[in-house]
Amino acid sequence: MHKMYVCKQGLGGKPRPPPGLRRLIALAAAARLALSPAMVDAAPPPPPQARPAQARPPQVRPAPRAVAAWLYLCAAMVFAMVLIGGVTRLTESGLSIVEWQPLVGAIPPLGEADWQALFQKYQASPQFQQVNRGMDLAEFKTIFWWEYVHRLWGRLIGAVFLLPFLWFLLRRQVRGPLAWKLAGIFALGGLQGAMGWYMVASGLVDRPDVSQYRLAAHLGLALLIYALLLWQAMHLSRASSGAIVESRLRRAATALLVLITMTILAGAFVAGLDAGLIYNTFPLMEGRIVPPDYGAMQPWWRDWFDNRATVQFHHRVLAIATLGAVLAYVPWLLRKGAGSKEVVLRQAQDEERKKALILSLSKDVSARRAAIALLHLAVLQVALGIATLLLVVPVPLAALHQAGAMALLTAALWLRFTLR
Ligand code: HEM
Repeated sequence: MHKMYVCKQGLGGKPRPPPGLRRLIALAAAARLALSPAMVDAAPPPPPQARPAQARPPQVRPAPRAVAAWLYLCAAMVFAMVLIGGVTRLTESGLSIVEWQPLVGAIPPLGEADWQALFQKYQASPQFQQVNRGMDLAEFKTIFWWEYVHRLWGRLIGAVFLLPFLWFLLRRQVRGPLAWKLAGIFALGGLQGAMGWYMVASGLVDRPDVSQYRLAAHLGLALLIYALLLWQAMHLSRASSGAIVESRLRRAATALLVLITMTILAGAFVAGLDAGLIYNTFPLMEGRIVPPDYGAMQPWWRDWFDNRATVQFHHRVLAIATLGAVLAYVPWLLRKGAGSKEVVLRQAQDEERKKALILSLSKDVSARRAAIALLHLAVLQVALGIATLLLVVPVPLAALHQAGAMALLTAALWLRFTLR
């Protein structure tokens, strides 16, 4: 007999409810599907007959689609921001603007005198003094523009988030818990700007390198903001109402998400310490699986976060573990039938059950697509990482590797969202 893929609690493990009750459950599921998430989030308005006609608030209908589209746009802008940030770092442009002026800093240098003033400030920085002594104004302009675009894009995200947010609030299209959640995301965005400056500031004194801890925190916060935006957007657009799977499968998808995030953060340490410039071989590191200077620093936590060999080794281990986990998980999920119309229908032994299962079919398709996307992206990402290492971190490839990390995270979030 084929195994059911639907949750055991619901239809498999325990005795089945009588047919009448099952019909009720199916109806309740259908009704739940018909509810828009905005209705679930926002407090429902009182019934019209309970209010006197003249006291009615202005008729503004909830606009979950517009709100979802706006949040998708913001998430896409954060995705792009991570890539711009990556190129800024890879071209060593991040320390070219030595001041933080959230408002007036939006205006670029307008004439020769402005450029000279900026260049002079840069010439006093440790990066110029110790690394770029021979740099002329033309070269300075290149690194300036990357950092400028990075900061400008951050401001633009702030505006693209805040202005529609106020508009939706004013029209009462966003309210209740959703409004608070979005306000929280906006606050995280503000914190991210400050965090970015805190990171840059670490490279403006003594050592012309930003701290790898601050780089990892800056990237980590970007991932969090991205994940929250995307999750909310998927929720509002009902990207999937959820394929019903065993809780083990759901928990495993969450664990995958954690593993991918850890691999990305380990990547930030590799990038922050320029650890991709050593041990440019794969799979061995100087002929050994574990590099010879692993554990050379004391105590262990300094070794984990300051030793370039250890940091690169951990990133490799986490990356291979991620790939292994995805390769094991996706076939498991698909074998259990999530997303397969045939399996669901074959398993449905009576009409009643068939009807209930058909209700969840549309949702399952997205689970299957997300799982397959995750599988491909994991393979691609590991290949990109190895190529980046072997070719000693060329800028375009390293930028692509960073984009791959974001794409992989997106697929894992999407997959987790599709399971319930
Ligand atoms: C699931 C797989 C992987 C993920 C999610 C991942 C993620 C990342 C991320 C996000 C960064 C850049 C962080 C930043 O710029 O702040 C990075 C850097 C790096 N990764 Fe990976 N990586 C993976 C696999 C690998 C593999 C298998 C290798 C090689 C064996 C590798 C080698 C590198 C190197 C050399 C860098 C530094 C590049 C630079 O300086 O920009 N990665 N990784």
